Amino acid sequence: MAHQREITMRFLAEPGDVNFGGKVHGGAVMKWIDQAAYACAVGWCGQYCVTVYVGGIRFYKPVLIGNIVEVSAQIIYTGTTSMHIAVDVRAGDPKHGRYSQTTHCVVVFVAVDNEGTPVPVPPFTPQTEDDKGREAYAKRLMELRKSIDDEMRPQREKGEGATKA
Ligand SMILES: CC(C)(COP(=O)(O)OP(=O)(O)OC[C@H]1O[C@@H](n2cnc3c(N)ncnc32)[C@H](O)[C@@H]1OP(=O)(O)O)[C@@H](O)C(=O)NCCC(=O)NCCS
Repeated sequence: MAHQREITMRFLAEPGDVNFGGKVHGGAVMKWIDQAAYACAVGWCGQYCVTVYVGGIRFYKPVLIGNIVEVSAQIIYTGTTSMHIAVDVRAGDPKHGRYSQTTHCVVVFVAVDNEGTPVPVPPFTPQTEDDKGREAYAKRLMELRKSIDDEMRPQREKGEGATKA
């Protein structure tokens, strides 16, 4: 089976996506990121996948209502069951067709079976220098994430201990 490594999806920022400041809601952009990364993960492994981690979302510029939003997702690293996907978001007014980068992040998806248990994915082997650089980038982020996870663990454990309202 051919594994599709990347996908670009385009969305139109509609009036329903507006925030209180008149621009596109950050949550709308995050949904498009998740959708493109999901399509990329499933296209790569051919199985159902779930988001396990979304990291480093920084909105550089606002997206405006009426903009075309182009979301490109590309596999940059695979573990045993995980796929690390770089996502770049560009947006622009279709009237002039100039697009600029508004967000970049790395999303991690895991392939799961019907019981929700992680299952192995086809390995991605970088060939070009560019791809080797992206894989090294994904690995550095993984290392950085360990210290972020350690820092956040007490908060998570506090939440796990919370009683129902
Ligand atoms: C994703 C899920 C199945 C993983 O289950 P798990 O018991 O933690 O499984 P594992 O510990 O074997 O980890 C599975 C993979 O996730 C990766 N992973 C776990 N935590 C991670 C994190 N914080 N960041 C990146 N990857 C992570 C592991 O490295 C492993 O990858 P590998 O097999 O390539 O080494 C489980 O956490 C889950 O169901 N989460 C909810 C997913 C979901 O519903 N998402 C939608 C949001 S509402």
